[in-house]
Order: sequence, then C-alpha cells, then structure tokens
Amino acid sequence: MAERVLPMVIGAEAEPRDMPLIAAALAAEGLPGIDVPARTLLFVFREPDGGTIGFAGLEPFGEAALLRSLVVLPPARARAQGSAIVAWMAEEARRRGIGEIFLLTTTAAPFFEKLGFRRIARDAVPPSIAASAEFTTLCPENAVAMARRLRPATG
Ligand SMILES: CC(C)(COP(=O)(O)OP(=O)(O)OC[C@H]1O[C@@H](n2cnc3c(N)ncnc32)[C@H](O)[C@@H]1OP(=O)(O)O)[C@@H](O)C(=O)NCCC(=O)NCCS
Repeated sequence: MAERVLPMVIGAEAEPRDMPLIAAALAAEGLPGIDVPARTLLFVFREPDGGTIGFAGLEPFGEAALLRSLVVLPPARARAQGSAIVAWMAEEARRRGIGEIFLLTTTAAPFFEKLGFRRIARDAVPPSIAASAEFTTLCPENAVAMARRLRPATG
C-alpha cells in the first residue's frame, strides 16, 4: 500500500453546540444517531477558518474500540480529509491504549480497505462490541464488519 501525504487535520472533542449539525449530518447519511453520547468520544474536525470538515466517534470497549459516525461533509469530500481523519482517530485510539479498532459500514468498505482495515466476519468481533447498540440494533444486517490492528503506543 503506497504511503500518501495526507492533509493535516486536528480533532477537538465535540461540544454541545456541535450536536445539531452532527445529528443532521448522520441522519442525512442514513447513519445511526449517537444514542448514548457519554459512551462515544466524539471529535469534530475544522478548517483553519473554523468551518467544519467532518467528525468521527470512538466507542472504547477495553482494549478494542468501535470507530463510528465518520462523516466528511459533502463540500469537503474527495480531498483526502476522510483518510486523514481516520489516521488521526487511529492515533487517538492508540494513545488511549486501544489495540484494535472495529467498524461497520454499508457503503464505504473500499475506502476503509485503502486505510488498512480488513473485512471480518461479524461473529469475529469481540463480544462487547458485538453487544453494542451500533451492532445489535442500529445498523442493518447487511453492513460489513471491518477491523484494523494498531501498533502499540511507544513512549
Ligand atoms: C466515506 C467518507 C468519510 C470519505 O471521505 P473523503 O474525505 O471523501 O475520502 P478521501 O478523499 O480520504 O478518500 C480516500 C480514497 O477512498 C475513496 N473513497 C472515498 N469514499 C468512498 C466510498 N464511499 N466508497 C469507495 N471508495 C471511497 C476515494 O475515492 C479515495 O480513493 P483514491 O485514494 O484512490 O483517490 C465520506 O465520503 C463520507 O462522509 N461519506 C458519508 C458517510 C459515510 O459513508 N461514512 C462512513 C460510514 S462508517
């Protein structure tokens, strides 16, 4: 897999004022809403002028985590921002001691494959993640499960 130079993105924890935009964007993409906000670490990514690029959530379950609610807003797409956000989220997860991230997607499996995720059987996910709302009720049965191991954090 060739290394690509990704744009610099910096996530900041979502604030209550961000939630209406996030809820609307998730609904527009047909993605599950954030049913239990306290469980999901939600990060917003902005342009230097403050305009929102997109957002993504990380739901930790011990040493595994669910990457969810990834949206790059339509005007910001196809500029590698989504790839940079996933790289940023992986680094954030690693920093938090997460060893493997999992996700479900109905439409973006090729995008995640370019970023080092592999398709896995749904029953290969850890039980805690399989029991999450995203896996049990919120996502359709035809969604593809994917996983990516993270290098252990050093120093
Ligand atoms: C999927 C999404 C996050 C991609 O964001 P983006 O900033 O446009 O993606 P990038 O520019 O980093 O794309 C990287 C590569 O993946 C490809 N790609 C992007 N979205 C894709 C998709 N849905 N399906 C297949 N390939 C896709 C791009 O063409 C690009 O390929 P290239 O490297 O050969 O040029 C964005 O389209 C989005 O928010 N979609 C709606 C919500 C969604 O599907 N979220 C993920 C569900 S869990």
